[in-house]
Amino acid sequence: MNRMEYGRIESFINSYIPEDEDNLEEIYRQARLDGVPVIRRTTKELIKTILMMKKPDSILEIGTAVGYSALFMSKIMGESTHITTIELDKERAHTAMANIERLGRSQNIYVINADASEALKELPDASYDLIFVDAAKGQYINYYEEVLRLAKKDAVIISDNILQDGEVLESHFTVEKRNRTIHDRIREYLYLIMHDDRVESSILSVGDGVSISIKK
Ligand SMILES: C[S@@+](CC[C@H](N)C(=O)[O-])C[C@H]1O[C@@H](n2cnc3c(N)ncnc32)[C@H](O)[C@@H]1O
Repeated sequence: MNRMEYGRIESFINSYIPEDEDNLEEIYRQARLDGVPVIRRTTKELIKTILMMKKPDSILEIGTAVGYSALFMSKIMGESTHITTIELDKERAHTAMANIERLGRSQNIYVINADASEALKELPDASYDLIFVDAAKGQYINYYEEVLRLAKKDAVIISDNILQDGEVLESHFTVEKRNRTIHDRIREYLYLIMHDDRVESSILSVGDGVSISIKK
């Protein structure tokens, strides 16, 4: 299937996905207008299903952007679920905090404005039921050991954008050098999660590619 066909299938599925409720939809649209990357609607639907099955009490997100996915997860789970989310960019972290405040979720969502590779080290062992990894794609492999340390037994680890619009599949010679490095690191990450006995993983072509790992 070529990229255009894949895009058509995603648009077809998207056409069935209802918009978010008022304020959340506004945050989504504003993020898109401002060029801030947020989860695709199809990915969001998958996460919704996982959340409803897993019912996590505690969620860790790496890559807050302006808080859209954290707010979405909080809305699905309600007030008993606590979400910690990490964002490197100061302006985005502040926008996220303002959005969280505006939607009345400050008690449930805690934003850490820091580099995830540092912030993760400060978090306690085996604390999270679900970890959503959605930051710099080349860094997933570096976060991996910390993510496993932070995950409870049977925790779900979801990693987004692991196919990079299909570019991860392209020949080594057809992609720019910088992207080639990122893609190599994503491939390494995928190999690792599929061969590591500590997790059971699947790679799905939903949205921009999602991997799901369960910590054994
Ligand atoms: C794809 S966006 C996150 C989107 C968000 N999860 C959503 O769907 O609403 C990735 C975010 O990760 C942040 N990021 C990149 N490198 C990071 C790092 N080392 N530590 C923390 N955040 C990082 C970026 O600034 C960016 O806002």
